[in-house]
Amino acid sequence: MTRIDATELTFDELDELNFPRPDENDFDRVVERAISRRGFLGGVLAFGSGAAVMGTGLLGGASARAMGASRFAFTPIPIQTDFEVHVPDGYGTQVLARWGDPLFSDADGYDVAEGGPVAGSDRVFGENTDGMETFTHKGRQLIAVNHEYTNRKINLPAAQEGTPANAGDVVKLQNLQGVTVMEIREGDSGWEVVRDSPYNRRITHNTPMKIVGPAAGHALMQTGADPTGTMSLGTMNNCGSGTTPWGTYLTCEENFNGYFGATGALPGGAALEAGYSRYGIGADGWGYDYHKHDPRFDVSENPNEPHRAGWVVEIDPTDPESTPVKHTGLGRFKHENAEVVLARDGRVVVYMGDDERGEFLYKFVSNGTYRPGGSTEGLLDDGTLYVARFEEDGTGRWIALTPESTGMEPAEILIFARMAGSTVGATTMDRPEWIAANPHAVEAYCCLTNNKNRGVKPNAGGDETPVNGPNPRETNRYGQIVRWFPKDDDHAAEAFDWDLYVMAGNPGVYNNVYGGSENINEGNLFNAPDGMAFDSTGLVWIQTDGDDGNAGDFAGMGNNQMLAGDPATGEIVRFLTGPQGSEVTGLAWSADRRTMFVGIQHPGGSWPTGSGLPRSAVIAVKRDDNGLVG
Ligand code: FEO
Ligand code: CA
Ligand code: CA
Ligand code: CA
Repeated sequence: MTRIDATELTFDELDELNFPRPDENDFDRVVERAISRRGFLGGVLAFGSGAAVMGTGLLGGASARAMGASRFAFTPIPIQTDFEVHVPDGYGTQVLARWGDPLFSDADGYDVAEGGPVAGSDRVFGENTDGMETFTHKGRQLIAVNHEYTNRKINLPAAQEGTPANAGDVVKLQNLQGVTVMEIREGDSGWEVVRDSPYNRRITHNTPMKIVGPAAGHALMQTGADPTGTMSLGTMNNCGSGTTPWGTYLTCEENFNGYFGATGALPGGAALEAGYSRYGIGADGWGYDYHKHDPRFDVSENPNEPHRAGWVVEIDPTDPESTPVKHTGLGRFKHENAEVVLARDGRVVVYMGDDERGEFLYKFVSNGTYRPGGSTEGLLDDGTLYVARFEEDGTGRWIALTPESTGMEPAEILIFARMAGSTVGATTMDRPEWIAANPHAVEAYCCLTNNKNRGVKPNAGGDETPVNGPNPRETNRYGQIVRWFPKDDDHAAEAFDWDLYVMAGNPGVYNNVYGGSENINEGNLFNAPDGMAFDSTGLVWIQTDGDDGNAGDFAGMGNNQMLAGDPATGEIVRFLTGPQGSEVTGLAWSADRRTMFVGIQHPGGSWPTGSGLPRSAVIAVKRDDNGLVG
């Protein structure tokens, strides 16, 4: 990589070039230890007995690996800066569903170009696809897909410049977010949505939800419309996803705060004020202006309504009449995803990240155990919520959030989980995004996407954020992936060891820690790891949501992308590039593992139709020879 043109550099970047950090400092040595602790070059050590399972067609077999061959069944692709999707030779893509595509024939003719009418806006595929999961039910294939947010400027008449003018505008925005459940099938002309399937369903910002678990019914959960504090409307800002062993979908509420605002005075009271401050709830909101047209979102009238968002919601994709369930046992924060694994004794363990600068990593462990076919009552609510503390020496532990450890009441620990985490000295993280557990080893990975405030200023709760073990770089622009290895190979254990799987960086610009870890090279540059999932063979797929300007610190990285990583060797290669402007997020596989579904959020240009508005979409990726893709 050639050094970039200095005229394109920001002041900070020029400062870095003129006054470079020393080539190696204490920082680097800490990083070096973290990276090499497990030793990628040691090969298969992370896999143990799982290694035999990985000898699939995708990998080329264990013997090929022993000879040093790559585990990747494709030729990595270069970066792109165009408005298309690219995959390796021998692979192809098709669009499965775009924003505004009808799920039911009564929504035929829904026209996104006209700003879309209110009528039908809850009968079409929503906007800005994110986490998704596939399910097989009675021989049918179902997919549940999140719709994280809406682009107000393109959903509302152009003259309004993104500002809702009336209650109808607000309902339309509310309808185009949430979740889609739909049946899909593969025919002679590829994948398609089964229009009018009895399983097709839209869940929006107005769908009734049950609230269960230890915080249900608490005074902080009660509103005028729901004095019981056990029923709410809608699921908000659905980001990442998860599945349970019993076949339900988990959708995770992230930036819920942005929908709330106040037409009058913000409510008072110490607990409310502290909670609003920590979770970012203010009078103005983020421009959705729901509060001006829908009193439920006006916190001067309904001060507790924001407490009813920020949860993990369980949906049964096989029963379109079922009421989604908000599980308070999993804590309230800006949830990214929910990765569910079983402890050795069958207890349910849920790993969860809170995506905000300097916030925490969480784990829930159920009291009861999962038995196939047995009752699942309480398995996502009755248990203990923990928060992670990482030590510099490569060890760490999960700290239980209890009345004894936090000095808080049980329901308040969950409603204000961030404050509970602060009381026990949890490790501030560089924006935890998706967590993924390796199906072939007892280990889990978390994308720490970036954090410009690392080493610069505290989190919203006042916790200082100095550089620390898994977050070793000030003003972290690139992000890293931390992984942990639970003690005794048991996800329920309180102790773990950790290391960094990769530190993204730009070795063409920096020859210090900002150049990234050793497994970063000119051929796989990326920034802001975000989405992540393991395939059945044990490869880890990494999706990015970063700066795609391809200049300065980000020169040579191109558009956002999806890469595949080998957990044992640390090798990471590029598989897919998204259209300029887009984030690549959401990944699921068909039942036969011959199709990979990938989400393209907020594309630029006119992707994928080639003219008119860009439309977020889920695409299907297949091998030309119909081989396995994970
Ligand atoms: Fe919706 Fe943290 O990504
Ligand atoms: Ca994300
Ligand atoms: Ca992100
Ligand atoms: Ca996003």
